[in-house]
Formats: sequence, structure tokens, C-alpha cells
Amino acid sequence: MSEKVRIIVKRFRKGEWFHSEYEVPVERGMTLLEALQWIKENLDRTLAFRANCRMGLCGSCGLTANGEPVLACETQVSSLGEEIELEPLRNFPPIRDLVVDFTPFLEKQREVKPHLIREGKEDWSREYFQSKEELDSYIQFTYCISCGLCYSACPTSSLRDWLGPQALMTAYRFSADSRDSGFRERLEAVKDHLGFCHLANSCSEVCPKGVDPSLGIQLLRRKANRFSLLGDRKRKPRGLVPPREKGEPIPYPEPTVEGAEEEIIRILKAKAKE
Ligand code: FES
Repeated sequence: MSEKVRIIVKRFRKGEWFHSEYEVPVERGMTLLEALQWIKENLDRTLAFRANCRMGLCGSCGLTANGEPVLACETQVSSLGEEIELEPLRNFPPIRDLVVDFTPFLEKQREVKPHLIREGKEDWSREYFQSKEELDSYIQFTYCISCGLCYSACPTSSLRDWLGPQALMTAYRFSADSRDSGFRERLEAVKDHLGFCHLANSCSEVCPKGVDPSLGIQLLRRKANRFSLLGDRKRKPRGLVPPREKGEPIPYPEPTVEGAEEEIIRILKAKAKE
């Protein structure tokens, strides 16, 4: 690794694109975000980029480096070669230089109701049942930090305006939660978007948190198909943990959709005979 790298930034101002080039001295362990901060402090105060936590948690430092969407604070300069091309995240409206507008992205997330939906009167004084297996069925999707890298890498998002991998994965995350009963409401929001994913998997490849949005979309499709096979049969959400004596073990929860697997097999067999 040479002691200096050349960083070429594709910048955006008032509807115009232009390029700026900088030479940055590299130190061992230097991240791309540190290189940008060095440029801002020593070469060009006007360079705009977004960052906050510097530890891969807030998801605000996403940009495109050598054609790949990355988090600047988690990317080593040494891994990008001696000439680094930077541009804002693709599939997002640019605001200024490397800063993009997240408003449409967050609106899509809001459309799928990213919160638990419960029916009836709530009792907030006690906990809800959730077995380890039920938690495992969606836990990986809770690691999403909404950084937008998946949306930026998605080939479908570059061609059409759709909910995108993050919002669809979030729809699955909450619908798969055994405490939730809002799938019907979410289905209304996602039903016209499920067919657009063509399994490129680029969303899952770029996720800095190891989340697999592509899997989330496939599971959501399966859930929607199952829902259409079973009609409007309601899933019963998990109930409250009943009051227990001290030291008494938590009772094992009942299955939420009783006999669903058997019924699907019966319907498929009947369809095959037709
Ligand atoms: Fe927070 Fe990079 S600055 S994820």
C-alpha cells in the first residue's frame, strides 16, 4: 500500500454534477470516513458528506466506493486500492455532494407499518409470550440499521419505484413476530410489490450487518401465498404471560395457527387432483 491515495469524488451542486480530486496520506487502520474528514479539515471545507456514530450503528455514512455501496466508517482505505472513486448512494435523490435524501426511503418503510399491531385492548403491565424458536424466526431482520445500502444495490430499485428490499424485509420482520396480528394490514401495502424482486441478491451481499433482505422478501412471499391459500383465516397473536407464583416455570405457548401445515398439504393435494 502506498502512503498516499487519490480520492476522486463525484459531487452534486444545484442540479450539476462535477468531480473533485484529492490526495490523502494514509495511516494504518484509516477508514474511508477518516479520509473524508481529513479532506474536509485540510483540503476542502466545502465537501459535504453525512456521518454520526463512526461505528457502523447509525447507518448515516453510506456512499458508493469504487461502484459498491459501503458504510464509510466501516471501510478501510487500504481495501480500496490507490485510486478511489466515490459517489453518493445510487437510487437515492442527491442533495449535495455525497449527501442523499432519505425521505422517500423512510416513507416506504413507514408504509409497511414497522411496529407491532395488536388487536383489542392492551394490558401493558405484563409481558407477551415468545419462545426462543419464535424469536429465531425473525431475529436477524432486527439487526437492520436502515442505512439504505440494500436499496442502493438493488437492480429493481434502479428501474422502478417500489417498496424495495428494506421495507419488504421490515414487513416480514413484524409479520413474523408471534406478538403481531397485523399481517392483513401490511399485505395491502406490499401485495403489488412482491413480484418485482428477481432474486439478484445484491441487497444481501452489501448489507453491513449481515442481514439477508432477499430471504426476508422470499419469506414474505411465502407468507402471502399461505395467506391466500388459507383464506382470511386469522392468526391468533400470542397472549399475555399469565400471572405466576414465584419460581413457577413459564408455561410453553400454544401454536399460533393450529393445523395450518396440514391444511395447506390438504389444499395442495386437492388442487393436484383437479
Ligand atoms: Fe454511523 Fe457510519 S457513521 S454507521
